[in-house]
Amino acid sequence: MKVMVINGPNLNLLGIREPEIYGSGSYAALARYIEGAAADLGIEVLVRQSNHEGEIVTWIQECYGAVDAIVINPAAYTHTSVAILDALKAVALPAVEVHLSDVQTREEFRRTSYSALACKKVIAGQGFDGYRMALEFLVKG
Ligand code: DQA
Repeated sequence: MKVMVINGPNLNLLGIREPEIYGSGSYAALARYIEGAAADLGIEVLVRQSNHEGEIVTWIQECYGAVDAIVINPAAYTHTSVAILDALKAVALPAVEVHLSDVQTREEFRRTSYSALACKKVIAGQGFDGYRMALEFLVKG
């Protein structure tokens, strides 16, 4: 099984950015964590991060015919991006949305997710572990 893991804007600043919310681990540590979890599960994984909505849309489009599933943390675009929702719908691959923080217990605007409408599952508030849980869910089919 091959999975693309896509991380959205500002996640490159993990460790620096609001550590009381997102934790002290860096983005490089997150990428290593995901690669380790994937290896444990026997999954081939590609881990990417972008601050640009259009680039994320292009990466989702490139998943079509190339990978079996998508794990996505669209970060702030979760709450705004119809383009990311449409791209996920277009490729129609099994997808799981992950958030490091518990978006349901934060500001009201974080409770809305467009991308979740095209995802089989949302995992929030589990920190790095959320990505491993997403891969486990996808591998079980
Ligand atoms: C986030 C939650 C979003 O609301 C926020 O904009 C982010 C990160 C998370 O992983 O908890 O950038 O997706």
